[in-house]
Amino acid sequence: MRLLVGKVGLVVGVANERSYAWHIAKALNEHGATCAFTHLPGERNEHRVKRSLNELGMGSAWLRSLDAGKDDDLDAVFAAYQNDFGKMDFLVHSIAFAERDLLQPGKFVTTPRAQYLSAIDISAYTLLAMSARARPIMAKGGGGSIMSMSYYGAEKVVAGYNVMGVAKAALECTNRYLASELGVDKIRVNCISGGYLRTLASSAVGGTDQMAEAVTEKAPLRRGVEGADVGKTAVYLASDLSSGVTGETIYVDCGVNILGS
Ligand SMILES: NC(=O)c1ccc[n+]([C@@H]2O[C@H](COP(=O)([O-])OP(=O)(O)OC[C@H]3O[C@@H](n4cnc5c(N)ncnc54)[C@H](O)[C@@H]3O)[C@@H](O)[C@H]2O)c1
Repeated sequence: MRLLVGKVGLVVGVANERSYAWHIAKALNEHGATCAFTHLPGERNEHRVKRSLNELGMGSAWLRSLDAGKDDDLDAVFAAYQNDFGKMDFLVHSIAFAERDLLQPGKFVTTPRAQYLSAIDISAYTLLAMSARARPIMAKGGGGSIMSMSYYGAEKVVAGYNVMGVAKAALECTNRYLASELGVDKIRVNCISGGYLRTLASSAVGGTDQMAEAVTEKAPLRRGVEGADVGKTAVYLASDLSSGVTGETIYVDCGVNILGS
């Protein structure tokens, strides 16, 4: 049964075919949704994203350049999207950034002010910035679903996750405040707390290779999370199956978060 036929939305965060956003787009598309995309500025980035979308049969999908740290870029992308589609049923925020040098065990205390603020800006504030621009488009169509990607390091100390943990805590809190304000327009806002998946972003965190092995051994499901696990949860969140769910952080981590040690 295809749950998203006729639905259309924007997916921000595909870098390549390993990205969580790529797996989310794949699952949304399999359920009949039309996805629009953004890429980081630059021809190489555009080419890499296009190539990964080609693998999904979405090589000719709507694609615009976006540096989410720039308000002008955000304005331009949402205005162009509105002009071309007129409605937005879902918005996927799957982006994060922190300086690689700071994502090493023992380095949190060395984080300079500017890098601390930029991690929160790109990884958390942008959810608010995108939601504010999505709101009028979604409200006009009678509502929508906004989702973002978090990680357990928002709640507990994960060695090396450092300033990204602070940013994810801000993201999860931003998610709740947005859910409380946007519900009046029938817009639901939720976070997916995904398990470790090897991607460009996660390979920047020091010590993750060992973490992946340890997780596979101790996870209640005795395996690491796959992109498709998160993709299926995104389908649930974009669809009417989650009609009463908002402000939540939903774990998709094969159960790792329930363990005490
Ligand atoms: N991979 C994991 O283990 C894991 C686990 C839980 C949560 N997450 C989260 O999932 C999300 C996606 O990360 P991923 O693991 O798929 O890695 P990824 O590197 O494939 O995706 C990160 C994306 O962020 C984008 N980005 C960075 N700065 C940006 C900016 N200024 N403007 C626009 N886009 C920008 C990159 O272009 C890239 O597409 C992130 O929020 C990440 O923290 C990842």
